[in-house]
Amino acid sequence: MSYRDSMNFKGSKATQLLRDQHYTTVGVTEDFLDNKIDITKFLKHINYTIKVHFSLEDVILIPAFSPFLKKYMEFEEPIRIISGEHASVKSIFNGINKPRIYEGEQDITLTQEEIIGKGGQIAKIMLQHVYKEENGLFNLVEQYLPEPEKNRVGNELSMRYTTLDNEYNTQSKK
Ligand SMILES: [Fe+2]
Ligand SMILES: [Fe+2]
Repeated sequence: MSYRDSMNFKGSKATQLLRDQHYTTVGVTEDFLDNKIDITKFLKHINYTIKVHFSLEDVILIPAFSPFLKKYMEFEEPIRIISGEHASVKSIFNGINKPRIYEGEQDITLTQEEIIGKGGQIAKIMLQHVYKEENGLFNLVEQYLPEPEKNRVGNELSMRYTTLDNEYNTQSKK
């Protein structure tokens, strides 16, 4: 049984759009780890995930949910962990795409093997990250976010999704 088949990716209006994206991400990540798709295709999906999916979570879901989590649980650990993992994935991804080390006059770019290694690091973080959201943070949202807020978050997510997805498609055509 694949990892994807072990989760059901079903939730309320506040999380469903994001859970649908998780379903795709887990599939693409497992395909990369099984050598069914190459590193370029995988990193393209990660770029999309950073620009669209992480952004929806960081800008809409987490700020909407944070006051309720504080109110009921008095700790923000679940949010801190999720945001920290977004930052780790972004930082590894940016390290692949920008030559960032300069030794004297020479810039050291990564070898293909190193790039695949970093892709593997991202893949491992992503699988457990999605698992934590599906079974941890998102279930807290289902439990503690009041019904009217769930509807508001759901509407905001679909609107922002349309904007971000269009922006991504316009930029990637350039
Ligand atoms: Fe996330
Ligand atoms: Fe997510």
